[in-house]
Amino acid sequence: MNFIFLGPPGAGKGTLAKEAAKSFSIPHISTGDIFRENIKNGTELGKKAKAIIDAGGLVSDEITIDLVKDRLSKPDTKNGYILDGFPRTIPQAKALDEFASIDAAVNFDIADEAVVERLGGRLCCRDCGQMYHIKFNPPKIEGKCDKCGGELYTRDDDSAESIKNRLVVYRQSTAPLIDFYKDKGNLVNIDARPAPEKVLEDFKSKFAK
Ligand code: AP5
Ligand code: MG
Ligand code: ZN
Repeated sequence: MNFIFLGPPGAGKGTLAKEAAKSFSIPHISTGDIFRENIKNGTELGKKAKAIIDAGGLVSDEITIDLVKDRLSKPDTKNGYILDGFPRTIPQAKALDEFASIDAAVNFDIADEAVVERLGGRLCCRDCGQMYHIKFNPPKIEGKCDKCGGELYTRDDDSAESIKNRLVVYRQSTAPLIDFYKDKGNLVNIDARPAPEKVLEDFKSKFAK
């Protein structure tokens, strides 16, 4: 199946996508992860995107659409994929319609206060990208990834100011996609408030796998 994951920043899209991708044996494609990889490697794309991402804005539709179109042309997407964080605007959704066919738009339902708390305590692994939370999902050893031993860090866009801005941008540009996919008849709401294991269980039960 071809999934897109919609929802506010910090809703747990990346956390669920990692596990769901494993259980469905399909790739997890996160535009945010691709941008961060480019920033880490100092590419031209990374240089263009860094200031925008750190401030909580959106990278241009043109750049992002080209990136996703290219990624979806790779053979590993043949049996399905999870697109996490794309589309994020109506023009991106319309462009996606031209080169992909989406089976389900999974919308992560959660209140702003909860996402602010989740993002305020998030830690990410520099080496494998695994997410932790200082309160909800702390690593076994402080500052170290359980999975690979890598160093844990706080994303530059998880500052209080950027979180606030990301929520404003989400309401303005991304939330209208909920109606866009509802009108198409492939919107599936998921309650993003419970613990990660529960959210995964709910997801699996909805898609029978
Ligand atoms: P992106 O990386 O996609 O960031 P985001 O949308 O802001 O979402 P997050 O990754 O912050 O949150 P998430 O929902 O994945 O939550 P997570 O699982 O980590 O994009 C970054 C930037 O790139 C954008 O701001 C933009 O600039 C640019 N960009 C990307 N795509 C773009 C596009 N299409 N167009 C233009 N620009 C684009 O979880 C968060 C925390 O909560 C973690 O600490 C986790 O451990 C914890 N947690 C997760 N689930 C639970 C749970 N069930 N219970 C308790 N805690 C939980
Ligand atoms: Mg994410
Ligand atoms: Zn790691």
